[in-house]
Amino acid sequence: MAYSGPFQPGDRVQLTDAKRRHFTIVLTEGGVFHTHKGQIFHDDIIGLDEGSVVRSVQGSEFLLFRHLLVDHVLSMPRGAAVIYPKDAAQILVEGDIFPGARVLEAGAGSGALSMSLLRAVGEKGEVFSYEIRKDHLEYAENNVDEYFGGRPANWHPRLGDFGEVTLEDLGGPVDRIILDMVEPWHFMDTARNLLIPGGVLMTYVATVPQLMNTMETIRGLKCFAEPRAWESLVRDWRVEGLATRPEHRMNAHTAFLVSARRLADGVTPPRPQRKARR
Ligand SMILES: C[S@@+](CC[C@H](N)C(=O)[O-])C[C@H]1O[C@@H](n2cnc3c(N)ncnc32)[C@H](O)[C@@H]1O
Repeated sequence: MAYSGPFQPGDRVQLTDAKRRHFTIVLTEGGVFHTHKGQIFHDDIIGLDEGSVVRSVQGSEFLLFRHLLVDHVLSMPRGAAVIYPKDAAQILVEGDIFPGARVLEAGAGSGALSMSLLRAVGEKGEVFSYEIRKDHLEYAENNVDEYFGGRPANWHPRLGDFGEVTLEDLGGPVDRIILDMVEPWHFMDTARNLLIPGGVLMTYVATVPQLMNTMETIRGLKCFAEPRAWESLVRDWRVEGLATRPEHRMNAHTAFLVSARRLADGVTPPRPQRKARR
């Protein structure tokens, strides 16, 4: 799949009309896209640079860009709620998803996070995505295959319960584990067994009780360093002269993130010390 360069057959291209409406097509030689403003021939697009303009037979102009990963995630079919791009970005950086990493996630849901993980680990990394529901796994597989134009060789989507995953299933411990499910605290023991010492465990939970249960379970196990909890808030701005101001609407809450690092075997976490009050 090409991420840059002139348009080629197989590219997923977003066309934007004068009213800022988006249409997405997959380029094929000889293909035709029918709009209410007349036909657009794919052959007129193939070979153009991104950011070019194509005209329909009735003369209407459409701006052309490749579909970005965020466009795909926000428009693809969903079986389960997806991890939004603002949170996927946090997971990639705060979870330290590095090129070559072996990453385990559950549940795979609609495959949104799987795609970001696959891009971050690169061809030398591996992503194992467990999903307990067959119908959700099918959404994830279809969405990932569609985005990459085929099944990535280093992606291992599997139908199954995260709680039953073994080291043998993974061919050894993994570097990072990301849990996006309703009750992740039931699986912290499993995560500890599958994670390499120093590895990062991250969970994504929507409500305060879920957050509390997750933090308390991690602390109680005494095999992780002190966990951290946070959320990210992203607010767009309208920038128009003297009317410049924040947008009225935002996705104020998606979920909380928790991260913790696995300690070496046999080590208990040092007791956190607070500064003495004067
Ligand atoms: C919110 S969705 C995950 C969305 C996904 N992260 C994405 O970005 O598209 C949660 C998923 O976890 C799955 N799930 C719940 N418990 C599970 C378990 N024990 N093992 C594997 N998957 C599980 C659910 O079936 C559901 O599809």
